[in-house]
Amino acid sequence: MIKIIETPRDGMQGLQHLVSVTNKVSYINHLLKCGFHTVEVGSFVSPHAIPQMADTGEVLNAMDTSTTHSHIAVLVVNKKGGERAMQFKQIDRLFYPFSLSPTFLEKNMRTTLAEAEKTIDSLQNRCVGAGKKLVVFLSLAFGNPYGDLWTMDLVFRWVEKFIEKGLDIVPLAETIGDIGPQKIYEVCAQLVPAFPQVQFGLHTHALPNRGIAKVDAAYRAGIRRFDTVLGGLGGCPMTGKKMIANLDLIDLINYCDKKGINTGLDKRQVTKAKQQLSKIVMTPNLK
Ligand code: COA
Ligand code: ZN
Repeated sequence: MIKIIETPRDGMQGLQHLVSVTNKVSYINHLLKCGFHTVEVGSFVSPHAIPQMADTGEVLNAMDTSTTHSHIAVLVVNKKGGERAMQFKQIDRLFYPFSLSPTFLEKNMRTTLAEAEKTIDSLQNRCVGAGKKLVVFLSLAFGNPYGDLWTMDLVFRWVEKFIEKGLDIVPLAETIGDIGPQKIYEVCAQLVPAFPQVQFGLHTHALPNRGIAKVDAAYRAGIRRFDTVLGGLGGCPMTGKKMIANLDLIDLINYCDKKGINTGLDKRQVTKAKQQLSKIVMTPNLK
């Protein structure tokens, strides 16, 4: 069984048109019926940086979590976002997109490695006190497209630091979509056996039909947690590079079906959610 983390946040944040609260809520309510391990519904970040996510609070208040078994996550990038997340009892996971790359930290969160580490400490402190779980991503975990230092040693050192801080879930993110399956295999195959107490994940971006080779590489290396976006929507608008789509949920499901891997998903509900995606999310609406 693998854990699938569906992230409409990553899917929608780069859309040119704003999706209305009503449509977001209706779509997310469908996702909550699918059986995902986690749904990352939005983010508490600067509305100037990501206008699409400015209404995450309204979405959280209106969506129906009464019957879902999925964890509900939001992405935060600073203490202010962390404090907002504390106000919502429906949120039980906070995602923080740490990166090994000083350049990407500056582009994405206007922060430095040292400041980002302080933010992690403060978020972790708040989360532990509030019974929520902090999940810190290691973005650009497989290499660095900006020319910053990247070594396997550096990756190991940061994972060790995370463990010291009490973190035990570390999604490895390939934010730009430029890393090949072989590199993904090499990195994961070293980390997974070295840190059995950590649940590593893969957050990847890929051109259509390129994602599955990366998933397969990670799966062979022992990764059992994958981030997806239905329809392969989205990408990170903060990289300064071309946005490359997220791993499409449907591609992951097809891969798992072929390999006989249990996804825990209700496929009828996934199909319904997909219909809603094209109807109310991808089509610009005038509401
Ligand atoms: N929630 C809401 N508003 C926030 C906020 C938060 N968590 N953090 C900052 N802001 C607001 C500030 O209040 C300020 O608003 P104002 O200009 O109306 O007074 C504005 O954003 C700028 O704040 P400042 O602290 O100067 O931040 P900045 O301009 O240096 O930007 C970040 C830094 C981190 C806030 C911004 O780059 C950001 O939100 N990035 C998010 C990127 C993201 O979501 N990436 C997703 C891919 S992983
Ligand atoms: Zn992403």
